[in-house]
Amino acid sequence: MLMEQEKHRMMEPLFDYDVMGGQPALVGNGLTGMDILSVDQFDKAKIDYIFARAREMREMVEIVGAADLVKGNVLACIFYEPSTRTSSSFIAAMERLGGSVIPITGGVQFSSVSKGETLQDTMRTLEQYADVIVLRHPQIGAAIAAAEAATVPVINAGDGAGEHPTQALLDLFTIQEELGTLDGLTVSMVGDLRFGRTVHSLSKLLSMYNVKLNLVSPEILRLPLTTMNQVRDAGIDVRETHDVADIIADTDVLYVTRVQKERFSDLSEYEQVKNQYEITTELMTHAKEKMVIMHPLPRVGEIHYDVDRDPRAAYFRQVRNGMYIRMALLAGVLGRA
Ligand code: NCD
Repeated sequence: MLMEQEKHRMMEPLFDYDVMGGQPALVGNGLTGMDILSVDQFDKAKIDYIFARAREMREMVEIVGAADLVKGNVLACIFYEPSTRTSSSFIAAMERLGGSVIPITGGVQFSSVSKGETLQDTMRTLEQYADVIVLRHPQIGAAIAAAEAATVPVINAGDGAGEHPTQALLDLFTIQEELGTLDGLTVSMVGDLRFGRTVHSLSKLLSMYNVKLNLVSPEILRLPLTTMNQVRDAGIDVRETHDVADIIADTDVLYVTRVQKERFSDLSEYEQVKNQYEITTELMTHAKEKMVIMHPLPRVGEIHYDVDRDPRAAYFRQVRNGMYIRMALLAGVLGRA
C-alpha cells in the first residue's frame, strides 16, 4: 500500500522550487494524525517513506532554506528534561517548514507544571493552541499517557529510560546515508545500554534489517531483557562483551553512548561505571577504513575530541540529519508530505 503511494510520490516531488508559496494537497501518507510514541509503530515501508521525504527536505533546505509546507500550523514543544539537539531540531524543523512553535524548553519551571499541573491538563491546554505536541518527560510511558489525553498528535522526544523513536529514525537514516545500506552490517553499541533510550529504540529498529549486534557495556548497564528478547526474537545475532577491543575490527557502525547519570538512584553505582569507555585515535587504527562512529550526544568523555578529525566521525552529520528526519515527520503527521 505504502509502496504504491511511494511510487506515486516519487513522480510528484514535494517541492516545486518555482512556486514555493502554495501548500500541496493533503496526501494519504500513513503518518497523518499519527502519534509517534515507539519504534514498534514503524515497518520498513514507513521507514523508506520517511527517509525519502527526509532526502527531499535536505534538498529543499540546501537549495532554498525554507518552505511554506505547514504554514499556519503550530507546534508545542514541551521538555520536562534538558535538551539541546532534540528541542532545537524540532523547532528548526517546524520553522523551515513554514510553521511556528510554542517553545516550553529549558523551562517547564516557567510553565504551570511548576505549580503542580498534571501532564494530562498540560496536554489538554496545549492542544487548544497547537496542531502537534512534542514531549520529553522523565517517566517511561509518559508519552503514551500524553497521547491518550491529547486529541492532536503527540511525538515522544524521550520518555525517561524508555524510548526515543525520532532519534532512532535519524540514527538509522544516518547509517543508511553514510554506508549506503542497512543490511549486512555489524553494529556495535557501547556504553549505557540499560538506561539509554536511544539504544532501546535503535536496537529494535535495526532488528528489522539483516544486521549483527555487538553490545558493549559494564555488567550493570546491559541491555534490558525485554529489549534483548525482542531483538533475539527477530532473529538477530547478538554478542555481548565488556571490551571495545573485542569488536572494533569487525564493526561497521560504532554507536557510542553516555552513561545516563540522571537515571541512577545510587550515585556510587554511577561512579563505578562512568568513564569506562573512551574512543581514541589509537583505537580507531584498529577499525575498518569504511565505518562510522555515531553518538546521540551529548558526549561527556566517551569520544576523544581528536577523533573529530577522523572522516569516520559522523556524529555532527548525525545531528544535522535529525532536522531533516523531524521535518519529514512533522510534515507527515500534519498531512503535508
Ligand atoms: C539523548 C537522550 O536525550 O536520550 N540525547 C539526544 O536526544 N540526542 C542521549 C543522552 O542524553 O545521552
